Amino acid sequence: MNKTLRKAVIAGNWKMNKTPAEAKELLEAIAPLVKDADCDVVACVPYVDLSVALETTAGSNIRIGAENCHWEASGAYTGEISAPMLKAVGVDYVIIGHSERRTYFGETDVTVNKRVRAALDNGLTVILCVGEYLEQREQGITDEIVAMQTKVALQGVSEAELKRIIVAYEPVWAIGTGKTATAEQANEVCAMIRRTVAGLYNAQAADGLTIQYGGSMNAKNAEELLDQPDVDGGLIGGASLKPEDFAAIVKAASR
Ligand code: PGA
Repeated sequence: MNKTLRKAVIAGNWKMNKTPAEAKELLEAIAPLVKDADCDVVACVPYVDLSVALETTAGSNIRIGAENCHWEASGAYTGEISAPMLKAVGVDYVIIGHSERRTYFGETDVTVNKRVRAALDNGLTVILCVGEYLEQREQGITDEIVAMQTKVALQGVSEAELKRIIVAYEPVWAIGTGKTATAEQANEVCAMIRRTVAGLYNAQAADGLTIQYGGSMNAKNAEELLDQPDVDGGLIGGASLKPEDFAAIVKAASR
């Protein structure tokens, strides 16, 4: 396993925060702080902020992503946004299967897979979220749960397409709680995901896969987490709304 084979990617997940005017202000504050980053920097923002985010970051090293997309290209799906729509506005990335989508909006492994397919078919790069609930960790079934989520989500994804997948391991109990997984816990599951992907494809494909940790990653704990051999980046919620904190995480990933 060779970490240098993989791209470090730090992605902000803004969730349901920031109006377009606030998004512009936040990105203008972040851009100068991360301009020398030696890793990929992404901001995943609410749909209504996408256009202004793309305009504000044009010519910078910040890429823009959405937080979800539907699996159909168009049709009677009130309130949904499709992958071709995202592509048409110029978006590069999309988060799929975030635990908040799974928990509050009935997302299943099967709908996650359908959304992954739609995103790939439309040229987007996917940040695929997987992770266990606290009760599942306590029951000792973390590996089974996360391996299953990974396998179902990647059904029908070719080895070539896997290059446009980033997996984000986010233990649900660590999201927005201030309770981070220890660096060892994070690495153990990220390594397990890599073994699972090696089983589905091959060792080379798994070695090239960027696997992020997410869940209360912040300016203080980022370095230790990102130093782990199988942790290649971070999906950052709360700290991505604070320019200095986000920039510190980007710096930790750039070492
Ligand atoms: P958090 O969120 O950093 O606020 O814990 C991470 C995420 O949900 O992606």
